Amino acid sequence: MTREIEQVETLISAQQIQDRVEELGRRITADYPERMGDPPLLLAGVLKGSIVFLADLARAIRRHVSFDFLGVSSYGSSTESSGEIRLTKDLDGEIEGLDVLLVEDIVDTGLTIEWLSNHLRRRNPKSLRVATLLDKPSRRLRPVPLAYVGFEIPDEFVVGYGLDYAQRYRNRPDIAVLRGVST
Ligand code: PRP
Repeated sequence: MTREIEQVETLISAQQIQDRVEELGRRITADYPERMGDPPLLLAGVLKGSIVFLADLARAIRRHVSFDFLGVSSYGSSTESSGEIRLTKDLDGEIEGLDVLLVEDIVDTGLTIEWLSNHLRRRNPKSLRVATLLDKPSRRLRPVPLAYVGFEIPDEFVVGYGLDYAQRYRNRPDIAVLRGVST
């Protein structure tokens, strides 16, 4: 029996993440000026990975926001290329007429965000944009517009700040490359 040794190496420090999230929050605040009587900007988080980013991003946005969450899972083992996505949890509330920001931890092939964008657009939001902490453009299969991107990263398996390997590492405060495991 061979034993795999997990190696974890910081790629983006907690301080770098914090600085970048503050910057994204400033941009979002400027892009969604608040007028009296406006409903809150809806931050729609994609479970589970996005919740850490969403929690920090929300506190960097200087206007009213509300939270809602979506869950998705992919069919079969070759999900990445099949693009067959199933909703495991829908938003709790209606989004018609609302400004909606879909919040992701990472956009890889783009299949998830493409599917979710189509799903939400059918409900006639006033606007729909995507904010993602991480973007792996080299893996993209679909050209999805990303309005707010924290960091572009190379094609490495990353964990931390919400991202997991077998449900572990989500609580790391940084983003780290994980090697020595079968992914
Ligand atoms: C990750 C991530 C996105 C999706 C991106 O979720 O949060 O939802 O994969 O991949 P794509 O661009 O190739 O579609 P994951 O399945 O790891 O679930 P989790 O957030 O619960 O860990």
